[in-house]
Amino acid sequence: MYHVDVRYDATRHALRDVSLVLDRGEFAFLTGSSGAGKTTLLRLLFGALRPSAGQLIVSGRSITRMASRDLPPLRRQIGVIFQDFKLLQARSVFDNVAVTLEIAGVPRREVRRRVWNLLKRLGLGHKLDRRPLELSGGEQQRVAIARALVSDPPLLLADEPTGNLDPEMAIGIMDIIADAHARGTTVIVATHDPTLIERYPHRRLVLEHGRLVVDRPPGAYSSSIRQAAAPVA
Ligand SMILES: Nc1ncnc2c1ncn2[C@@H]1O[C@H](COP(=O)(O)OP(=O)(O)O)[C@@H](O)[C@H]1O
Ligand SMILES: [Mg+2]
Repeated sequence: MYHVDVRYDATRHALRDVSLVLDRGEFAFLTGSSGAGKTTLLRLLFGALRPSAGQLIVSGRSITRMASRDLPPLRRQIGVIFQDFKLLQARSVFDNVAVTLEIAGVPRREVRRRVWNLLKRLGLGHKLDRRPLELSGGEQQRVAIARALVSDPPLLLADEPTGNLDPEMAIGIMDIIADAHARGTTVIVATHDPTLIERYPHRRLVLEHGRLVVDRPPGAYSSSIRQAAAPVA
């Protein structure tokens, strides 16, 4: 994205002159305090929002100029873990995860196998038939994670994916995201959790009042942080 501005209203910028390039296969943390613009940046990449100014290119296509009818094919390439989950309340846990594969025309047996394996890995194997509202916040979050990852998307956008989880579960989720990354998925994780950021040596993008103030390459660690993270890594 090049010199991107987002304004939700006439006076205030949610993003201001943000320029960055994320290469295929990269893993980046997007950090910054609440209201800094993290969710706005992810919504831009998903095509849920158009920039007020600047250029935005995703998978070689300009989102700025794209017709609305071209957005659904782009979105099928993107797994999104929304901050507020956006689960289908009338459908079961299984259906919520299966839906992306069904839309993609994956055969039924294969859908069952993949959904079942992933939900089991996320500790939800015994809740396949439940409705989202019957689950805790952390369980709903894991369903949202499964839905985003089950189709092995080329791009994963995760908005505070560990926000409602205890530390042990948060590590489990990061392991699953790391597996997707290892299989080639480009990953952006928005988080304001410092322990998460310090634990992994990924590129780090920091937003402050809508401006990109730090773009730290992967592996740029101070030794004290490395030592602090070592026992749990
Ligand atoms: N739909 C919206 N309408 C108006 N303002 C919004 C909307 N969404 C976000 N904002 C504002 O844009 C700024 C950035 O918000 P957001 O991207 O949600 O930040 P973060 O995810 O880092 O907490 C905040 O000042 C927020 O109040
Ligand atoms: Mg947010």
